Amino acid sequence: MTAQTLEYEKVYDDPPEYVRHEKLVKWVGEMAAHLQPDSIYWCDGSEAEYDKMCDLLVDVGTFIRLNPEKRPNSYLARSDQGDVARVEDRTFVCSVNKADAGPTNNWMEPGAMHNILDGLFEGSMRGRTMYVIPFSMGPLGSPIAYVGVQLSDSPYVVTNMRIMTRMGKKVLDVLGEDGAFIPCVHSVGAPLEPGQADVTWPCNREQKYIVHFPEERAIWSYGSGYGGNALLGKKCLALRIASTIARDEGWLAEHMLIMGVESPEGEKTYVAAAFPSACGKTNFAMLIPPESFDGWKVTTIGDDIAWIKPGADGQVYAINPESGYFGVAPGTSYKSNPNAMESCKANTIFTNVGLTDDGDVWWEGMTDEAPAHLIDWTGQDWTPDCGRKAAHPNARFTAPAYQNPVIDSEWENPQGVAIKAFIFGGRRNSVVPLVYQAFNWSFGVYLAATMGSEMTAAAAGTIGQVRRDPFAMLPFCGYHMASYFNHWLQFGREISNPPRIFGVNWFRKDENGKFVWPGFGENMRVLKWIVERAHGHAVAVESPLGWMPRYEDIDWTGLEFSREQFNNVMSVDREQWLQEVLSHEELFIKLYDRLPKELVGIRELLLSGLWRSPQHWEISHE
Ligand code: GTP
Ligand code: SPV
Ligand code: MN
Repeated sequence: MTAQTLEYEKVYDDPPEYVRHEKLVKWVGEMAAHLQPDSIYWCDGSEAEYDKMCDLLVDVGTFIRLNPEKRPNSYLARSDQGDVARVEDRTFVCSVNKADAGPTNNWMEPGAMHNILDGLFEGSMRGRTMYVIPFSMGPLGSPIAYVGVQLSDSPYVVTNMRIMTRMGKKVLDVLGEDGAFIPCVHSVGAPLEPGQADVTWPCNREQKYIVHFPEERAIWSYGSGYGGNALLGKKCLALRIASTIARDEGWLAEHMLIMGVESPEGEKTYVAAAFPSACGKTNFAMLIPPESFDGWKVTTIGDDIAWIKPGADGQVYAINPESGYFGVAPGTSYKSNPNAMESCKANTIFTNVGLTDDGDVWWEGMTDEAPAHLIDWTGQDWTPDCGRKAAHPNARFTAPAYQNPVIDSEWENPQGVAIKAFIFGGRRNSVVPLVYQAFNWSFGVYLAATMGSEMTAAAAGTIGQVRRDPFAMLPFCGYHMASYFNHWLQFGREISNPPRIFGVNWFRKDENGKFVWPGFGENMRVLKWIVERAHGHAVAVESPLGWMPRYEDIDWTGLEFSREQFNNVMSVDREQWLQEVLSHEELFIKLYDRLPKELVGIRELLLSGLWRSPQHWEISHE
């Protein structure tokens, strides 16, 4: 035990009358005795409470109220400079057996981890209020939703949870007297001694632990107040814990956006796409088709997480368990993503962006011209030539989903929507072509399993380095990654009408470091081909990687994009691809103890296919 054990007995107020769940009350009491907050507050999730919480955050300096004329009911928070992203090296999956966590997760024996956490959490909320945050991932009361109760000493977390989840009294109504909930304990790890002044972003600079106990279905998070480290419904519950539940129950919890695509004929197709963190999910989920795509419409179900279940009709159905967007701010503009800009027009919490002189926000890429002066995310004066960034690269906005102008009418349907295609895409400046379709489900699982991506600022680490990020789930899979591959293979065997699987790469660059694909709204051209392929319509030719469109199979109306440019984004160099496939071996060796044999077989088939292909494979020359 690190904290001193004091004679410490505090009398807390009784929970509000509407709390009827004895086990919950008992757990909260036990936790309070251990965490030793000054007081306990049960969140009811009301607007009045949200406003009160925001006022409090303004009073203590965590929030800056933005100009209500420019950005109504919105706030800016600046985090500690060492608490700006998910901490993957401090994230643990503590299954009973080490082998169940697998080689891609940090692991510690649950008992040993509990000992460490007990020591850290003892008295960790002293001088602070403990907020009890009941939340539902998934529409309230729907049979597929999961309820969590997060204890947190961060009012910033409370306000964000109210946007990102269904939160408060209504969740307790659903829980009733004995409903099941996932306990989530969160402390910023910065207790206050009597009289000690607080800082605007309390956290623990020495120790951070983001810990999951999959068998216990419990989450403990210590030391960080930021994003996925602290909003425990998101990555911790809806991905890491949910993925283990999904494995046991035969469904999928994925790091995927879900979108609807409507053709001019009114045919609606839903697709889901997995891109790693900060690789364009929010942008793709809210895409606005180019003007020439008259009558095509894209609508959003979700931008980050999908829970996917097999339906009785042999199709798969997906829901978005969240109710808000925790979106990357830098790069978001009325040019790149107007719907995201509209979503954060009001009622939004901004974290680590710049503050303009007129009380609005600004970040790199928001406008062509930067403001002449602002206060940057570290609180310092900033001018365009100062050599620093106005916003942290992982600066985010927390915005309610209902503010998205293109929210899909089915976004809260507890039955979910039928998915016709899965799209996987990393950030690769070379090697990987713009789009290809896997030969079948198993090849698709291989494609997704071996996906590589350059690291972004969403996690603390080496930015730009290519790493394998299977299914964009490397930081989020709650169990052995190879068992997860096997689960996907098995899932495919059991559905009669599986979605088609595609790979995309929006991020190829030329020798001058410029993107060779315009991206953003123009991704609609690729999406149209994907949707038509999923319905068995569009033409494709066989390549060593899978099925690919020819130049004439993509709709180019309204864009000047030559055959030569198409070759630049689609060509495959045999030597480079050989190296790519060889590098998959590294991942496979790491996962060897549980790697499904199909994947090894497919790798052989891909190699032999490549061996027959020309040195430099250009599809339009077929
Ligand atoms: P998480 O919320 O971290 O899971 O990530 P996300 O995938 O939702 O990230 P987001 O959509 O916010 O990614 C933002 C980054 O992707 C910004 O740097 C954008 O400029 C970039 N981006 C998005 N779409 C495109 C595109 O089509 N082409 C290019 N070149 N960049 C894109
Ligand atoms: C991601 O990193 O994939 C995110 C942001 O979506 S966070 O919630 O902070 O994990
Ligand atoms: Mn994400």
